[in-house]
Amino acid sequence: MEVLAVAGARPNFMKIAPVVRALSAAGFAAPIVHTGQHYDQKMSGSFFDELEIPAPAVNLEVGSGSHVAQIAEVMKRLEPVLAQRRPDVVLVVGDVNSTLAAAVAACKMNLPVAHVEAGLRSFDRTMPEETNRILTDSISRWLFTSEPSADENLRREGVPAAWIHPVGNVMIDTLLRHRERARAARRPASLGLASGAYALMTLHRPSNVDDPERLESILHAAGEIAAELPVLFLVHPRTAARIEEHRLAERNWFKNIRRLEPQGYLAMLGLMDEAALVLTDSGGVQEETTVLGVPCLTIRENTERPITLQIGSNRLVGGRSGEIVDAAREALRRGRGAWTTPARWDGRASERIANVLATELGIARRRAA
Ligand code: UD1
Repeated sequence: MEVLAVAGARPNFMKIAPVVRALSAAGFAAPIVHTGQHYDQKMSGSFFDELEIPAPAVNLEVGSGSHVAQIAEVMKRLEPVLAQRRPDVVLVVGDVNSTLAAAVAACKMNLPVAHVEAGLRSFDRTMPEETNRILTDSISRWLFTSEPSADENLRREGVPAAWIHPVGNVMIDTLLRHRERARAARRPASLGLASGAYALMTLHRPSNVDDPERLESILHAAGEIAAELPVLFLVHPRTAARIEEHRLAERNWFKNIRRLEPQGYLAMLGLMDEAALVLTDSGGVQEETTVLGVPCLTIRENTERPITLQIGSNRLVGGRSGEIVDAAREALRRGRGAWTTPARWDGRASERIANVLATELGIARRRAA
C-alpha cells in the first residue's frame, strides 16, 4: 500500500516528517513528492536535513510564480507522477498552494486524498490559504483535524462525520521530538541573546507585507519595542523584498531591530523557546508558542487557530503601531504562560493518522491509538 505524501513549502516539512515516519512504521510505502514551491536551502533543504526527512522520490521544481501559475504548474507536473505510481492515497498537509494543487490533481485522477490539518478556517477569503483550505477539504476523503473548531467547521460544511478524525497536531509531534536538541544547540546564546530577555518576530503574509503603510506601521512598532527589549526579526524573502522596495531600512527606528535570515527548524525552535514574547503572522508559530509556554501576539485580524485564543496563549493585534506596542508591554508584564495544552497536542498525532489509514485500508494494525 502506498501513501504518497506531497510537500512544497516551509510549513509543510515539519508536518510531513512525523507522518511519513509513522506511515512507514505502520507498514505503508510513503514516498515524498516535493513540489519545489520553496527551494532555497534555508526555506527547504535545511528542514530535510535537520528533521531527517527521507529524500523526495520526485522534485517537481515548480519554483516561485503567481499563485495561479504555481498551482497550475504543480498540477501539470504531478499528473504524470500520479499516473505512473497510482498510489492508494495522496496525503497533503496544511494550506499552501502546493496542498491545493496536489489535492485537485489527485481528485481528478480518482485517487483519494487525505488532508492533515483539515478544517481550520479564518473566515477571511482574501487570505490565499483560506481558499486553499476550503477547496482541499471539499475534495478530501480523510480529514485529520488538530483542534475542535476544525471538526465543527467541517461538520457545518457537510463533511460526513465518519470522514473527520480528530487526531491532534502533527506539528507538535515534531516540536516535542526535537525540543531538547534545539535547546542543546543554544542558538539564542550564540547570538548574544539572554534567555527570556528578547522578543522574536516573523512576518510574511501578503496582507501585512504587501501594503507599504501597514508594513511600516508594524515595523515601527517593532522598532519601539526594541528600544526596551532586543527584537530579533527573522526576515522572510518576500518581506525582505518589500523592505528593500520601500527603503524602510533607512528609517531611524528600523536600525534598533536586529535582523537575520530565515532560520532552520532547530534554530527557530530554540529561539522561540527562550523568547519572552513572539510577534508573528504565521499560523504554525501560534501553535508552537502555545506548547512552549511563550506568549504570542498575532499581527492579523483573525486566526484559523482559535483554540490558541481560547486558552490564552495567543492574542490578535491589528496592524496599528500603538496597539502592537501596548499589547507587547502587557504580554511582557504577564510573562510566560501557565495555560493548558490543547487535547492531543501530545506527540502522537501522526501515529493516530497512520492507525486510521491502516485500519481503513486494511493493513494490520500495529499499535493502539
Ligand atoms: C507560502 C505559503 C504560506 C506560508 C509561507 C511560508 C501559499 C499561498 N503561501 O508563502 O501559506 O505561510 O509559504 O513561507 O502557498 N522565495 C525564496 N526562496 C524560496 C521560496 C520563495 O526566495 O525558497 C521568495 C520568492 O521571491 C517568492 C516569495 O519568496 O516569490 C514568496 O514565495 P511563495 O512560495 O510565493 O509564498 P510565501 O510567501 O513563501
